[in-house]
Amino acid sequence: MTRLLHIIASPRGRRSRSTAIARRIIQALDGMEIEELALFDVRLPAFDGAAIEGRNALIEGQDVAPEVKAEWERIGEMVDHLLGFDIWLFSVPMWNFGIPYPLKHYVDLVTQPRLAFGVDAAGNVEGMAAGRTAIIIASGALDIRPDNALEALDHQITYLAAWLNFIGVTDIRTVRIKPTFGDPAMVDPVMEAAYAEADAVARDLSRPERV
Ligand SMILES: Cc1cc2nc3c(=O)[nH]c(=O)nc-3n(C[C@H](O)[C@H](O)[C@H](O)COP(=O)(O)O)c2cc1C
Repeated sequence: MTRLLHIIASPRGRRSRSTAIARRIIQALDGMEIEELALFDVRLPAFDGAAIEGRNALIEGQDVAPEVKAEWERIGEMVDHLLGFDIWLFSVPMWNFGIPYPLKHYVDLVTQPRLAFGVDAAGNVEGMAAGRTAIIIASGALDIRPDNALEALDHQITYLAAWLNFIGVTDIRTVRIKPTFGDPAMVDPVMEAAYAEADAVARDLSRPERV
């Protein structure tokens, strides 16, 4: 059975626009196993100097303190958990032109050499997530999108797509919900267009040859 992980990077719960659009996709999918990971509601392990030194020591085959070993086992389990899904659905508001900090924290935890990617002697990168599909539901107060005046400010979708490519994901769908700030006459059609795009993504994911 196809497995979908919904990674929620908005803390706004039922008020979140990006989560609402993502849930529209989930509701339209049949016969998939769905799991949610609400990043503002979980305690992610610290990724600090001790963790990095511990990783280097483990790679070099040195002894490390039991708590460092346990921390790396937990990080390894997080990578396995992520790679255990076929489809990753991200609900992501733009925060200060980039992504909310718990999602960056999560990316830093799971993007581990040997676990999420490898680099061969010639410097070629091999992503371990090849074959996954990613759907980015990206909201933002401002109309920051390709081919308009604010394009250069996008470190949200461009960053996520670059990261996904790096770990091997090439099938990336994007639904933009922008701008979300303004009077209803402007924002309502933005939401309607996003719902329509979400429906199209769900239809495509439900094609018999895909399932
Ligand atoms: C801390 C913070 C920073 C934000 N920075 C930006 C930004 O740089 N660009 C933008 O367009 N909107 C920005 N916004 C607005 C949100 O992206 C916008 O309200 C979005 O629709 C929220 O999506 P959500 O309802 O899924 O949480 C910011 C909001 C917050 C709380």
